[in-house]
Amino acid sequence: MADTGTGFDARELRNTMGQFCTGVVIATGCLDGEPAGFAAQSFTSLSLDPPLVGLAPGKTSTSWPKIRDSGSFCINVLGAHQKAICDVFAQSGIDKFAEFSWRPGVTGAPVLDGVIAYVECDLEAEHDAGDHTVAVGRIRDIRILDADAPPLLFFRGAYGRFAAF
Ligand SMILES: Cc1cc2nc3c(=O)[nH]c(=O)nc-3n(C[C@H](O)[C@H](O)[C@H](O)COP(=O)(O)O)c2cc1C
Repeated sequence: MADTGTGFDARELRNTMGQFCTGVVIATGCLDGEPAGFAAQSFTSLSLDPPLVGLAPGKTSTSWPKIRDSGSFCINVLGAHQKAICDVFAQSGIDKFAEFSWRPGVTGAPVLDGVIAYVECDLEAEHDAGDHTVAVGRIRDIRILDADAPPLLFFRGAYGRFAAF
């Protein structure tokens, strides 16, 4: 494992970050009629006014450059019943859209069937961040499609579902 030169190695860093539970989204876009997308946990709300969200695409992502070039992206929030979609969209170099239904949103970016919510954005800015970038999106459309479905969660390298107190 790579030494980060800071007294901890990459495995410790990954394990520590894994203590922070997140949801899972599929970031999608459409360039020249071709849909693109990848699984991500780095989605966050940034600003209410103006309405901005953030996403950290890895620099090795093959889908992000296509999404970036399209100028827009859609964040599809996965429900706990959609781990199979995550498994496919976490792979590179395959036709990820073949087995899932979707429709274009207002930006043209794919909205996947069955997601619990989606957030459509225009790409506002992209900032360098080591082996990732931080993409800032200005929201154009939002929709909750299933307010009752539990979200897909990712925690300590495993998937699970939310349980309220
Ligand atoms: C739970 C989970 C969270 C992930 N989060 C991110 C992320 O925030 N940013 C990212 O670039 N990749 C993330 N990935 C990895 C990408 O989904 C994966 O590298 C994918 O193969 C990229 O596909 P692409 O080459 O088509 O872009 C995540 C994967 C999983 C399973």
